[in-house]
Amino acid sequence: MKLWSKGFEPDKMIEQFTVGNDRNLDLQLARYDVQGSMAHIRMLESIGLLSADELKVLLEALGEIAEIIERGEFTIEEGVEDVHSQVEFMLTSRLGDIGKKIHSGRSRNDQVLVDLKLFMRDELRSIGRAVERLFNRLIALSEEHKDKLMPGYTHLQVAMPSSFGLWFGAYAESLADDMQMLVAAYNIANQNPLGSAAGYGSSFPLDREMTTRLLDFSTLHYNVVAAQMSRGKTERAAAMAIASIASTLGHLAMDVCMWMCQNFGFVSFPDSLTTGSSIMPHKKNPDVFEIMRGKCNRLTSIPNEIALLTANLPLGYNRDLQLLKDIIFPATGELVSCLDMADFMLQHISVKDNITDDPRYDYLFTVEEVNRLVLSGVPFREAYKKVGLEVQDGTYRPERTVHHTHAGSINNLCNDKIAEKFSAIADKLKI
Ligand code: ARG
Repeated sequence: MKLWSKGFEPDKMIEQFTVGNDRNLDLQLARYDVQGSMAHIRMLESIGLLSADELKVLLEALGEIAEIIERGEFTIEEGVEDVHSQVEFMLTSRLGDIGKKIHSGRSRNDQVLVDLKLFMRDELRSIGRAVERLFNRLIALSEEHKDKLMPGYTHLQVAMPSSFGLWFGAYAESLADDMQMLVAAYNIANQNPLGSAAGYGSSFPLDREMTTRLLDFSTLHYNVVAAQMSRGKTERAAAMAIASIASTLGHLAMDVCMWMCQNFGFVSFPDSLTTGSSIMPHKKNPDVFEIMRGKCNRLTSIPNEIALLTANLPLGYNRDLQLLKDIIFPATGELVSCLDMADFMLQHISVKDNITDDPRYDYLFTVEEVNRLVLSGVPFREAYKKVGLEVQDGTYRPERTVHHTHAGSINNLCNDKIAEKFSAIADKLKI
């Protein structure tokens, strides 16, 4: 049975091909579909398209459906196309003709859009909370290990002194930038498309400001065509935020894999958090961070997938848009699981002391020496040459103490400022 049934049923193969995995994915939209319908019918009553009694009966029935959803008992039956159809069928089978009135002034096109906006808002907030947890962990670790030096590399060659305070703090501040993307994606999702109907509005005097208030959207997508165009753009903005966070996290995972390698040995984890080999008895592998890196790298590709799926589509609704769900729905949970796993693992990280005392890191300190000479009055280029020649003829001896006092440097991490910056951004997400 189809909402659009006109006396014939489509071929089974056609149905399977066009519905695909959508029924399954739509289960995640169910609670938002009911929320959207509740707002829509309140509005219909306010403009005289439903009586107060009809509204009451419909709201009660929708409330019961909402409870079924919250209990995890909601299903989309075989032969029913999607969540929107299932909810409407449940209403009409319970209430008869009153149920059939709910769809006035609405199309599944704006219905799925409003569901997606509400869904994305919640998903982006839950990503935001996971980012915040990891951020706090990183800042705490940065403070805890701020006095532990490690080599800094350029070109993957020993370069200048760095520290675990800098390293942990760097990922924290980088997450603050990603959070800006998340807020932008949230703001794009937080606009009401309801009332755009099939994509060109309706001859009913729909009160779109009212549904905006009822669904707690920050504003309307005013232009009905723009509202429809936001299908794909909303997901794309979210995907860009997800990709941005994933790229930060993937980078962190890569560092950990490298620092865990015996050639570095800078960090380690309890045995129970590592994995073994079936042949080499000594192995304690960083599989967690490898899987994290792989998952995050895959997540960085979803903006591209969305761009390709939506490239050059004609204006207005096209069924291709349904496939966006396959890309974006699994991505949010995947990212949250990576963020939470990173937070869990970092609770147990051990950091090696006195790494830079090893003679292989002697040359980390050449610039410190050049700068000391400059402060005693030697012009920079001469000081550079002097230390360079000492390195060349093997007479260079490092002085291993470090005094970096400017903002954001080893001895002045500014973690308090970074935390302030982060929470000012996170506040906009209302997490
Ligand atoms: N499952 C569809 C989607 O996600 C719902 C909208 C169907 N609209 C239509 N005109 N066939 O896009």
